[in-house]
Amino acid sequence: MLCRIAVGEQQADPVRLAAIATFATKMCAGIHHHHQAEDDVLWPVIVRSAGAEVDLSELSDDHAQLDPLLKEITTAAAGLGKEQSAAGRMARSLATLADLLDQHIEEEERLLFPIIAKYVSEKDWESVEDEVRKGGDIGFDLPRIGQYARPDELAELRRLAGPLLAILLRLLNHGHRRRQRLIFGTA
Ligand SMILES: [Fe+2]
Repeated sequence: MLCRIAVGEQQADPVRLAAIATFATKMCAGIHHHHQAEDDVLWPVIVRSAGAEVDLSELSDDHAQLDPLLKEITTAAAGLGKEQSAAGRMARSLATLADLLDQHIEEEERLLFPIIAKYVSEKDWESVEDEVRKGGDIGFDLPRIGQYARPDELAELRRLAGPLLAILLRLLNHGHRRRQRLIFGTA
């Protein structure tokens, strides 16, 4: 979509550009917050619980590589509609981000899920989840989780959150759909 806007194949008025910029900026802030919580809370918990069983250096290197990329995207987003090159820069950085995140998440799931299941106590895990939730933006994150999570992931979330989840999703979905339509042309 942004590639098309960058080469002039697709038109975007200032309202749509502002919606794209806000979406990308919030998404980058969410990813940054998530990594920060991993670096500051999850990694120490894992090291304390599993000791020599785990080497987190590659995952930490990924975080160090991802952070400047998030900054590039946020900077380009701020220039959308003002600088000629912003849409193209943003499209390229987002494509790199998608590739890096795919690899990073795959690696985290492969390396960490078994370690967490085996060594990390429920109490420690709750403190990690609390930290992740603390800096999250529920109005932005929850409807996207509702839209993109697998059915089994949603079922687990429903089990944990209870009836509150359905109420929140209904409340937040309206704004989310409106933003999606504005940005992607679909809901
Ligand atoms: Fe991570």
